[in-house]
Amino acid sequence: MPAIKNTEFDLDKKALANRFGSRAESYEAATPVQKVMGQCLLDRIRSEQPNGGVREILEVGCGTGRLTRALKALFPSANITAIDISQEMIDHAKKQVPGPAYLVIDAEEYLQSLNRQFDLIVSNATVQWFVHLDKAIGRMCSALAPGGFLALGTFAERTFCELADAFNCAYQKNQLAVQNHVVPMKSVDYLRQTLPEAELVERDILAHFADVRTFLQSIKDAGAVNSQAGQRPIPRTVLRDMPHYYEALYKKPGSREIQATYHACFLFYRRPPG
Ligand SMILES: C[S@@+](CC[C@H](N)C(=O)[O-])C[C@H]1O[C@@H](n2cnc3c(N)ncnc32)[C@H](O)[C@@H]1O
Repeated sequence: MPAIKNTEFDLDKKALANRFGSRAESYEAATPVQKVMGQCLLDRIRSEQPNGGVREILEVGCGTGRLTRALKALFPSANITAIDISQEMIDHAKKQVPGPAYLVIDAEEYLQSLNRQFDLIVSNATVQWFVHLDKAIGRMCSALAPGGFLALGTFAERTFCELADAFNCAYQKNQLAVQNHVVPMKSVDYLRQTLPEAELVERDILAHFADVRTFLQSIKDAGAVNSQAGQRPIPRTVLRDMPHYYEALYKKPGSREIQATYHACFLFYRRPPG
């Protein structure tokens, strides 16, 4: 197998946990795309497990508990373990969805030391924040009981491609060295190579916003601001020019809205039984 190109990045996880935590209240209203992705996972899980048969469930990155609630409804007698790096997200989930065993922990650490098995492991819109994603996916597979199922949804490389383009144009216009302000997403090739036995499904979900400011605010309200360590501030001239490029390039003629691509990517894997 060819070597997996490593796209690890230096992430300030404390800052990430704080950012998500500070948005626990606004998160659900600000994330219709993540909701659609969660629905895709649920549809697939429902068709994979039409008769239940799931006793132990692990949800990685449960956030406010939106998907946890649906999992609980789908498998009422299962034991659900739901983990998240943010205390505030877990507090919110506990209030909204009592019952599951909640744990505040970095999932990358949790998976590393895990010595239990699960019939179903689910993760939605979370693993794009992992530093060593290949290892984490490997650990999720090992933590599946024989015949167990992994359903994972994340974002891939075309996510926010319009924003990256608009920043590039603004940097070039100001004759400044281009910096990346969009969270570096894993490529589909990387995800495929990480788990070649999995079925991989891609879906571009287009969201529309009144203007660039509203779009950027929605990213903030979702807590999904870039938490890469060592981020330099965006130069004022770049901040001034970027929205003009965004609108010039990505506002359809006659439309009042700008477009933003969310490149969703799903991995579905069943561990062979026995
Ligand atoms: C975009 S939200 C998704 C929440 C939920 N899965 C949903 O579908 O709405 C990402 C969540 O992942 C959590 N997260 C990010 N990195 C994590 C890590 N290393 N370990 C555990 N949770 C993490 C964040 O705190 C946040 O609650």
